[in-house]
Amino acid sequence: MTAVLTGIGGFLPPKAVTNDDLSRTLDTSDEWIRTRTGIRARRMVSDGLSTGSLAVEAGARAMRSAGVTGVDAVVVATTSPERLCPAVAPEVASRLGLGTVAAFDLTSACSGFLYGLATAAGLIDSGTADTVLFIGSEAFTTLVNQEDRATAPIFGDGAGAVVLRRGEPDEPGALGPFDLGSDGALADLLAIPAGGSRQRSADAGLGHGTVPTADWYLRMEGRPLYTQAVERMTQSALAVLKRADWPVADVDWFAGHQANLRIVRAVAEELELCEERVAVNIDRVGNTLAASVPLLLNDYAARGALRAGQRVLLSAFGAGLSWGSTVLVWPEIQAEPIN
Ligand code: UT7
Repeated sequence: MTAVLTGIGGFLPPKAVTNDDLSRTLDTSDEWIRTRTGIRARRMVSDGLSTGSLAVEAGARAMRSAGVTGVDAVVVATTSPERLCPAVAPEVASRLGLGTVAAFDLTSACSGFLYGLATAAGLIDSGTADTVLFIGSEAFTTLVNQEDRATAPIFGDGAGAVVLRRGEPDEPGALGPFDLGSDGALADLLAIPAGGSRQRSADAGLGHGTVPTADWYLRMEGRPLYTQAVERMTQSALAVLKRADWPVADVDWFAGHQANLRIVRAVAEELELCEERVAVNIDRVGNTLAASVPLLLNDYAARGALRAGQRVLLSAFGAGLSWGSTVLVWPEIQAEPIN
């Protein structure tokens, strides 16, 4: 038995922010952002939207795509939690009318979708659940200092979701094998120092003054991360292709985490995959962490570019450091275009 993809959905908050919009308040330019990252615009939460509400919208669409009204478990991957406690997945399950099903969050930053797929597939493989709604949802721009030109242009908000069901390993949509990895020695390359148990949130506002404001926001060392991203995604993709016994030439679509267009292209070049087989939507959404890969798949499926029977390689890399890859043959499923 294995986990089979049976539905997909996505949601983007309506507020679009272009590079020109950012250039009005930041010392940056459309030209710099476009040529260094491939990003032209991103969406940002506003008007009461947050990680939970994005997840509910994407989850509802994925369930509609799968033609189901109930599931056995809900998993949400997010690194911009609704609150530090509790997890948002139970609330998402409740708001979707799913009753008292198993529900929990997992945190693995930009590789959250790959780690989450493996976890959701594990619930199915172990017989714990027959169907799982798995959502990557992020309102990460709320954790980025909008006055920092090194990070503000990069990230965007959104949610992508899939429904997985129990099935056979040789069916279209069957997930796996997986390759997952991490390197915690490099954790500080991408981190939000405060707000957890190390630099406690209670220190702020109580007059202790121990937590500098900058520590509440994301810190990123772009250049070393760039190198790691290319190396780790390439190695992971090659490892999973070997495990799956797929030659690179058999891959119809490389759906890599949209961190930077140059990173995705560099990985494709290392893999010797031609540009026509590289899926890209970073131009309009930016880096949406755990929502990145499902939003990309939804975009391509909704416009008919990703079709049933095509072989897809998924790969992601992010904070932790952490990375992961898997493969699947795209199944016959409906995907709605995202606003
Ligand atoms: O999601 C997974 C984890 N994240 C990543 O994988 C991110 C990986 N890193 C990257 O994508 C790239 O390193 C960035 C897009 C973040 C930065 O691009 P870069 O080509 O590595 O630029 P840089 O940081 O080396 O900066 C080059 C120059 C610097 O000026 P000097 O020192 O050469 O004079 C920066 O100060 O560009 C400057 N710069 C900017 N200029 C205009 C940095 N940010 C900006 C900006 N606008 N927004």
